[in-house]
Amino acid sequence: MRSLILLAAAVVFAPLCSATPIGHKNFDPKCGEGMHPGFETNIFQYDVPAQNFFDKTGSFFHSEWYTGPLLESTGEDDTVGATRSGNFSGTLFRERLVGYSSSSDELMHRYTLDNGPILFGDVLFGSYTEEMVILSICEGTATWISFTDVYCADKAAAAYNMYDRARRVLMDKLADDLGAMLFAGSCPGGHME
Ligand SMILES: *[C@@H]1O[C@H](CO)[C@@H](O)[C@H](O)[C@H]1NC(C)=O
Repeated sequence: MRSLILLAAAVVFAPLCSATPIGHKNFDPKCGEGMHPGFETNIFQYDVPAQNFFDKTGSFFHSEWYTGPLLESTGEDDTVGATRSGNFSGTLFRERLVGYSSSSDELMHRYTLDNGPILFGDVLFGSYTEEMVILSICEGTATWISFTDVYCADKAAAAYNMYDRARRVLMDKLADDLGAMLFAGSCPGGHME
């Protein structure tokens, strides 16, 4: 019930907290009343070449590994302005690609919530922008991945917790599928063993 009231309130304030198009404003959001700006980041390093992760995560329209199969998409894959829609644990979301770059050793996706405000669990998100960067490191033998999320949410700690746990669970599963192991510090590989 409380959530419904907040949802109604958030709809009224939607123009204040919806994400703006590409630009640094996405990373310093002005949140509507009852909403708190949040910033959450995760970094992972794995001992397999980045190509493994490019293959699994490299397309905006192939988010099976992340949010599950899409219900709909518009525009062209990996092209700014494209949107993807899905059903994440019962929440219907639409995300719009606002930044993309790709090369043989680097991939970046940046996208923003396009149908806010929406409820994930009991957390109301007015807006969010997520950036995923995948880099080839250690002379091509390993991978560095960062996720940065900036959002307006009604419950600051719960929103942070939700992002952080979801990332770890999803990346653990993906790494298991790839036979990849986490490491920190020195590059893994033959020379030092
Ligand atoms: C979204 O998923 C939930 C289960 O998590 C399901 O009950 C609901 O029918 C789905 N909605 C659509 C439109 O697919």
